[in-house]
Amino acid sequence: MEKVRLGIVGIGGIGSAHFHCVGGGKISGMTLGAVCDIDPERLEYCKGVYPDIPRFLSYSEMINSGLVDAVLISVPHPLHAEMAMEALGRGLHVLSEKPIDIKVSQAEKLNEIAKKSGKVFGVMFNQRTNPLFARAREIVKSGELGGIKRSVWIITNWYRTQHYYDSGSWRATWSGEGGGVLLNQAPHNLDLWQWICGMPSRITAFCGVGKYHDIEVEDEATIFAEYPDGGTGVFITSTGDLPGTNRLEISGTRGIIVIEQGRLVFKKLSSDEREICFSDERSWFDPELETEVFEPADSGGAHAEILKNFADAILFGKELIANGTEGINELMISNAAYLSDWTGRSVELPIDAELFDRLLEERRRGSKAKSGGGQQTHENYSERWQVKF
Ligand SMILES: NC(=O)c1ccc[n+]([C@@H]2O[C@H](COP(=O)([O-])OP(=O)(O)OC[C@H]3O[C@@H](n4cnc5c(N)ncnc54)[C@H](O)[C@@H]3O)[C@@H](O)[C@H]2O)c1
Repeated sequence: MEKVRLGIVGIGGIGSAHFHCVGGGKISGMTLGAVCDIDPERLEYCKGVYPDIPRFLSYSEMINSGLVDAVLISVPHPLHAEMAMEALGRGLHVLSEKPIDIKVSQAEKLNEIAKKSGKVFGVMFNQRTNPLFARAREIVKSGELGGIKRSVWIITNWYRTQHYYDSGSWRATWSGEGGGVLLNQAPHNLDLWQWICGMPSRITAFCGVGKYHDIEVEDEATIFAEYPDGGTGVFITSTGDLPGTNRLEISGTRGIIVIEQGRLVFKKLSSDEREICFSDERSWFDPELETEVFEPADSGGAHAEILKNFADAILFGKELIANGTEGINELMISNAAYLSDWTGRSVELPIDAELFDRLLEERRRGSKAKSGGGQQTHENYSERWQVKF
């Protein structure tokens, strides 16, 4: 195979940006093989841009057409795992938009199938390409920060208006979307949080449901995470703050990392605080610190880099930046957060997926259907999906 023929399903907000990117020849090693959407107007739109690209109203027909080697899934989240499993079953490679699904139980089934398939399975965690987060991960993984005592991420600059929530009938309903900010905007940050700091073993969370918008799901969430080694973490997110904040602080036994305003500051101790605490004869003091300031010139290749990496993984066996099987991790945290909020208790990880599915189903049954506006299409990757400070 010289070039991967990509089929894109869902030519809406993000899907139309992927369509222009791949269709416009911006990803070497990848061509646009076909597009699919259940909305005929979206296909008319595609026809107007690239008249020769085959168009399908049915996903199954597209993946059985022999015209595509891989699919990019950019439809509403409750369909992600089911579509990914179908494509893998047909011997296609899969790149799924985030989140990998709305339920851990579905992600578990998908991972089983993906592992057996031998196909490339990636997830669009485009913020992993941002050099700031990659550097933070490197510092933590190398042991330079020591053991993590605490992380605090305030990520409240995902502001959305009521107009946004009204822009699609599936948005911000239990039946259509399956959740709110934890499932739509925060997956990027929840993924980075676990990518850098590891997976927690217990979650306690509080959600603000329809606190700032007329919606039936949460537009604010606060998560308290406990880790197997005794470390803790706090994660606060919201779509109701204007202006909001994006500040990640990770405090370790050998120093502290702060990512804020597009730069990372790492203040390093010369020895481990746990040793200092029990050996130093002074009662308190200001430590000598070595300070690293990392301010990258750009914010990384984002979506296009993930697409290029996916093509390289298929063509040359390159390692994925975001392996699809890792999509379950951030979903485990958000499912646990819902479960904790719904039951009023702390939740051990891995979660009781059956209980989660039952409680989500109750909400989905009680969900109010919305009549929905149309999609906002994008000829380029929108600035609102990039890392913002
Ligand atoms: N990585 C990112 O930065 C990023 C940014 C935005 C959205 N997303 C994700 O992409 C997904 C789509 O979000 P959006 O904002 O583009 O939504 P959207 O509503 O704008 O577009 C979804 C499209 O899917 C189509 N569709 C729905 N069901 C379908 C089906 N069964 N078969 C074929 N087409 C179908 C709709 O007609 C619509 O055109 C979501 O899961 C979201 O989380 C990711």
